[in-house]
Amino acid sequence: MSTVLLVGGTGNLGQKVAQELHRAGYAVTALVRNPQKAERLKPFVQQFITGDATKPDDVSGLCAGIDIVVSTLGKSVSLNDRSRAGFEEVDYGANARLLQEARRQNVRKFVYVSALGAENYPDLRYFAVHHRFSQEIIASGLDYSIIKPPALFSAFTDLIDLAKKGMLVTPGDGRHLTNPIYEGDLARVIVESIGQPNSVVEAGGRQVYSRHQINELIQRHVNPNGKVRRIPLGLAKSGLPLMKLIDRNLYDKGAFFLEVLQHDVIAPQRGETSLETYLDQKLYARS
Ligand SMILES: NC(=O)c1ccc[n+]([C@@H]2O[C@H](COP(=O)([O-])OP(=O)(O)OC[C@H]3O[C@@H](n4cnc5c(N)ncnc54)[C@H](OP(=O)(O)O)[C@@H]3O)[C@@H](O)[C@H]2O)c1
Repeated sequence: MSTVLLVGGTGNLGQKVAQELHRAGYAVTALVRNPQKAERLKPFVQQFITGDATKPDDVSGLCAGIDIVVSTLGKSVSLNDRSRAGFEEVDYGANARLLQEARRQNVRKFVYVSALGAENYPDLRYFAVHHRFSQEIIASGLDYSIIKPPALFSAFTDLIDLAKKGMLVTPGDGRHLTNPIYEGDLARVIVESIGQPNSVVEAGGRQVYSRHQINELIQRHVNPNGKVRRIPLGLAKSGLPLMKLIDRNLYDKGAFFLEVLQHDVIAPQRGETSLETYLDQKLYARS
């Protein structure tokens, strides 16, 4: 039985990856920083190690006896996440340390979740660090899989909350297209990629929507009487310079969101679950 170290297993994607790894017969060890959050992973994980991936001492020795590292580790893109560490520290720094450790212990494979189109936005920290780390994996000599999704369904949780408050807006014309993917579907793609040497796998959901369509879909599910207003893109962007001065993490997220709205972000359609089904289940579970 191959051994997998899963880092980021308590996250939206990581939880589904833990399930899928278990289903595929891997023995999973998970690095978690919050043992309470780890409770829900217990059926799928054989061993838990408590630690913070940004701390060198907590990462040292982690890969002993491990065949495959799967990293879904990253700073949350939610505006509700106010943790101090930035994308540079978590998405780049912690992953780079993990890669170093994997090489030191002769791990067989490193699987990393990047983001679709990360190479196209060198001025946006979120994308730049994902791209830089992907380049390091490729240069490392380890067998790798780099997974590149557009948005995950859970990325719309903030929009659901705004829709409930009647505050959901579409900046700009909202015409650009994307095909977000359900975490459970992407987890399947990730685990399949373990058998695909040195692969870069782009994977999106089964349906392509415009940004405004996504907002309208969310609004309809939350409160069909509510309306999604449009605001000028320039107005939405006007707060960014001040945000950059007072809260760099918030700026990085805001700049990222406003940039992706202005481009089509479409990956090969690998998901099966529709956003409508996801919203039905999520809102039913919350009510
Ligand atoms: N969300 C999207 O739409 C999207 C789109 C494309 C790519 N991605 C990429 O996919 C990956 C997973 O995304 P996600 O939405 O599942 O993220 P998430 O829900 O925020 O999960 C991130 C995971 O990383 C863990 N983590 C963060 N800092 C840590 C630290 N210092 N030490 C140990 N663990 C730490 C979190 O632990 P806690 O549970 O303790 O916080 C959590 O398990 C990320 O790399 C993200 O950039 C996401």
